[in-house]
Amino acid sequence: MTHVRLIPTSELPESLWRKGTNCLILPPLLVSAWQALLEAEGLTDKANLPVPDNLIGGITKDATNDHLTWRFTGSSARVQMAMLDPLSSLDQISDAFAKTFSGGQVFLADLPCGSGAAVLTILATIAELRRTNKVPRTPLHVTVLGGEISEFARAYATNAITSLLSALEGVGIFVNAEFLKWDACDKFSNADLIKELTLRSQGCGARMIVLANFSGFLQNSGKWNAAKDQFDALFLHSRDVNSCAIWIEPLTNTVTATGGFLSRLVNWFQKVFGALPQQTQLVGDEDQPIYGSSNALAQHPLRPEHQFNSNLAVIRFDLPIKVVSK
Ligand SMILES: C[S@@+](CC[C@H](N)C(=O)[O-])C[C@H]1O[C@@H](n2cnc3c(N)ncnc32)[C@H](O)[C@@H]1O
Repeated sequence: MTHVRLIPTSELPESLWRKGTNCLILPPLLVSAWQALLEAEGLTDKANLPVPDNLIGGITKDATNDHLTWRFTGSSARVQMAMLDPLSSLDQISDAFAKTFSGGQVFLADLPCGSGAAVLTILATIAELRRTNKVPRTPLHVTVLGGEISEFARAYATNAITSLLSALEGVGIFVNAEFLKWDACDKFSNADLIKELTLRSQGCGARMIVLANFSGFLQNSGKWNAAKDQFDALFLHSRDVNSCAIWIEPLTNTVTATGGFLSRLVNWFQKVFGALPQQTQLVGDEDQPIYGSSNALAQHPLRPEHQFNSNLAVIRFDLPIKVVSK
């Protein structure tokens, strides 16, 4: 059966996707917020230099700045690709975004939020689709909760979102955001986050948790076992009507190989939520891997001559209330 997309790829505006060259363009509001952060921290020149390998962010100001300078746009492009799916390989992911953010009262958690690349990309992309009249400007109230260990990254995320509030309101998006200290390896910190998540998501008609680019820390730095119990609790307490988690990672061998990060994630999920009916299936799951993937170019916002490769592996976990007994 042919899937009818909520936002067909033919409707994507040139300001987000250059069809002729298969190239993503980061949304203008996102770019302006990122540039303002770079300017304020004196990082603009650095952002024009080649990107060093193995940057995964971290708790210090230097690690946070390196990530902001060199990885922020890559993180953003990945999230934008998951949302828009210009090459039609992630229908069920992009539809989840389109449906969740079509209007009404919505809750969005971004974990770990870093400097806010995921949440800012989501809001700025919806804003651009609305500005170009590709989707209706139905009032959309988004309650955002970011969790992150680096105080510097939390401050950047706060500043960036604050700088966009009035432009977002101009297209009918009203945002209330908070960025909390969250240590994925600490059960007390996680309990505080869950309490806040429960309070802030009350009354929302749809809920989404975005987890982006965390495999470097969880897999490569060997922290999965220390963090696993916190994810158990987070996912269990996030079950609700219209609730899902979208996990986005780079399309690398350590992420997608058998025994790699995504297998580990899916095994964990099936163990904890084995009784749930949804089981993370993507379209065409018969002969496809359990994750969706896509790959395209993205235009670097500061260097007109430079397009970088953007790729992602993504899984959608639906988190309904009802658990079907085994
Ligand atoms: C690769 S970055 C991804 C950030 C953001 N999701 C993005 O896509 O840009 C990983 C983030 O995890 C944060 N982090 C590292 N250890 C953490 C922990 N124990 N708990 C929560 N966040 C942590 C880092 O500070 C960094 O901001």
